[in-house]
Amino acid sequence: MDYDFTTLPERRGTGSSKWEAMLADNPDVASDVIPLSVADMEFLTPDPIKAALHRLIDSTSLGYTDPTDAFYDACISWQERRHGWKPQREWIVTSPGVVPALYTAVNACSEKGDGIIIQPPVYYPFSAAVERTGRSLVRNPLVFDGASWRMDFAGLEELVRDGRVKAIIVCSPHNPVGRVWTEEELARLVAICSDAGIYILCDEIHNDLVMPGHTHRTLLSLASAAQAERIIVLTSCSKTFSLAGTQGSVIYIPGNDLRTAYEAAYEAQGFFQLNAFAYPALIAAYNGCEGWLDGLIGTVMQNYALLKDRLDGKLGGLLVHPLEGTYLAWVDFSSWGMDSGIREQFLHGQAQLYLDSGALFGEEGASFERFNIACPTWALDAALTRLEDAYGTDAFEEARQGRNGS
Ligand SMILES: Cc1ncc(COP(=O)(O)O)c(C=O)c1O
Repeated sequence: MDYDFTTLPERRGTGSSKWEAMLADNPDVASDVIPLSVADMEFLTPDPIKAALHRLIDSTSLGYTDPTDAFYDACISWQERRHGWKPQREWIVTSPGVVPALYTAVNACSEKGDGIIIQPPVYYPFSAAVERTGRSLVRNPLVFDGASWRMDFAGLEELVRDGRVKAIIVCSPHNPVGRVWTEEELARLVAICSDAGIYILCDEIHNDLVMPGHTHRTLLSLASAAQAERIIVLTSCSKTFSLAGTQGSVIYIPGNDLRTAYEAAYEAQGFFQLNAFAYPALIAAYNGCEGWLDGLIGTVMQNYALLKDRLDGKLGGLLVHPLEGTYLAWVDFSSWGMDSGIREQFLHGQAQLYLDSGALFGEEGASFERFNIACPTWALDAALTRLEDAYGTDAFEEARQGRNGS
């Protein structure tokens, strides 16, 4: 079956975060420019999801709604089919988002002042979830070995010896470096953390966005029953099918005590049910859109090949890092020798290119840009042409000399 990965949804004027940020920077941005920043997709919603939401509106009211058997079955069956492990129904709790769930999980497994480890460069709400809950941020940066990003296991072993450290937040697959951690890496992580008695909050929101040749293993499929008592796995169909606006995430917590603590912390934040649209959207996505997802992954691969062909080693020596998972390509701009703020202004002003600055993900990312390549190939192609045209101009040289010429 053919799916449409070429038609752009109309998002101007809808309040889309990504589009509004671009338009706030430049209200006169050319009509054919699309932003390649925030991690949602520039594709039409798959037909089965649209049909399910129409059915909801046409056939019932929009009152308070709890998860049904069909909801739980869809989650369990998806994990079995796509990821080869079978969660139990009672492990599942819902949340309006993975980010709110991270705040809840941090509250559930630690006290104010406790240390929580993150591994930057990493999705920036992780540090916010630690600091805004009054915990102390402990950094164990990833290491780039010249070919691939790695977890610093020696650094981790050192940090977990500190009795004040209570948990680690892991990104698997990793946004923004695009790694799909191997079974060996994840098993080592579990062993170190369980030996130290710390919790693992494993954000697996990108679990379905895995490129051919790589396999995502959920942390819970690698942990013993005893180790799983201290693990929370956070998932959602929101990245996979671009449903972030429906706000329904699925959190797996096998440990009874931990789940009870999590549920208490969730309710203490004033959260209860999801909105009524979240459930049918998830059920339709998981039960009816597997073919669409395979088509999407093909399109992301095609876009990544285009990006690599046009940028890697080009334009003064940009380096496109490997993309094993996610639809977020991580590109090293250090050869430009520009401060990240000036680079951003240059890209906006001269190339009308709206990316996520790597600096957002921690100081380790300051020389990088993150390209969201979940868009029609023609749109990425046009964005790359604008970048190629802007490279080497007088404005580029001025920016390189530290002047904001744009
Ligand atoms: C690693 C990661 N976690 C969480 C989120 C957002 O999750 P949610 O919208 O469910 O809060 C994102 C969005 O980009 C992400 O990349």
